[in-house]
Amino acid sequence: MRQCIERKRAGGELSADQWDGIITAFMEGGVDEAQMAALCMACVWRGMSFDEAFALTGAMVRSGATITFDPARGIVADKHSSGGVSDIVSLVAVPIAAACGARVAKLSGRALGHTGGTIDKLETIPGFNVALDLDRFAKQVERVGCAIASQTDALVPADKRIYRLRDRTATVPAMGLIAASIVSKKIAGGAHAFVFDVKTGAAAFMRDPKDALELAGWLVEIAKRFGRRATAFVTDMHQPLGRSIGTGIEVLEAREFLAGNADERTRELVLAISAAVVTACGIDNAPQRVREALESGRAAAKFREMIAAQDGDVAAFEALKLDEPLTVTAAHGGYVQAVDVVKLGYEGRRLSEHDPLGGLRVAARIGDRIEPGAPLLHAYGRDKKHATHLSSTFTITHAPCNVPPLVYETLT
Ligand code: URA
Repeated sequence: MRQCIERKRAGGELSADQWDGIITAFMEGGVDEAQMAALCMACVWRGMSFDEAFALTGAMVRSGATITFDPARGIVADKHSSGGVSDIVSLVAVPIAAACGARVAKLSGRALGHTGGTIDKLETIPGFNVALDLDRFAKQVERVGCAIASQTDALVPADKRIYRLRDRTATVPAMGLIAASIVSKKIAGGAHAFVFDVKTGAAAFMRDPKDALELAGWLVEIAKRFGRRATAFVTDMHQPLGRSIGTGIEVLEAREFLAGNADERTRELVLAISAAVVTACGIDNAPQRVREALESGRAAAKFREMIAAQDGDVAAFEALKLDEPLTVTAAHGGYVQAVDVVKLGYEGRRLSEHDPLGGLRVAARIGDRIEPGAPLLHAYGRDKKHATHLSSTFTITHAPCNVPPLVYETLT
């Protein structure tokens, strides 16, 4: 291992066999955490080749169990976001695609830093079971057409350990490590096709759109080398995607979305991603089918079917209701030029920590012209009184400004 670390430190490349040996030894105790952290740091500084990222992906997949879906029974798809704020896309795109006849096996994570986690959001629905065992997960996908479950310890245990170590040692931002971490979990989850949503902007791992595009390219290429279909979107995270930031408050936004009361920016991305999932499953005319599933109420019904299949209390879900908000207003008028999305993400997490319906609703967007005293945010939940300081998260200037695009690139 020492020689492998030295080689990476010097900017060299490791072979597929060496990556395999490292992951096997790490899981068996022959490589310790200090050595693994040193290797990760060398990868952050010196980079990794595409072949190394591919080799590491395979080595990590082999560290645990894998799910298999019989392709003869139809393509199964999975959708993955690299981490956003106010991002309900998974919550609604999965049932929309399933309502179009797609089969979606979605493995999701928890909140990380300022970004939200689909699993934490779904857990606010009373009874909702995110910890499906692999057999139940696969059977639900066959029966209902979709399931959203948490990453289990059985799948890619190497990533679980290495990711925790990278988080502690500030070694997350390395393209090869990120790509291997994401794709290994998708491959082990058994889907035949993936749709990636790679965020870019101030609140994303890849702040620069060029880096996000490169990561998107690696995700698609690694998936392809494993014989999977893949599409990647590079999308904006200079501001929250939708209206709500928190956990249960985002589930409520998903319910409103499926009932026809959608935030326009979110709707645009959801339609594009849902259509990509449906297309990936080999179903034609996807954009039209997606719109019909949404407008006919079939997508809303599919979401409730999935909740019931995962032991969730549908009546309690219907009864979710926000309390009276505390409104944060603008001290002066002008144009919203920037939003501190990281701060809002952390605040949404804090507000929802002791109150599932605690969180924020965003009332102003980049580019909006606002009057003095206009609402910027509505805060909900037990701890909302501490949200008054959040007006400083909005930069308001006198001159109009450019609104960042929603979708920068789409790769297939
Ligand atoms: N998400 C992951 O699953 N892994 C990473 O390394 C970064 C984001």
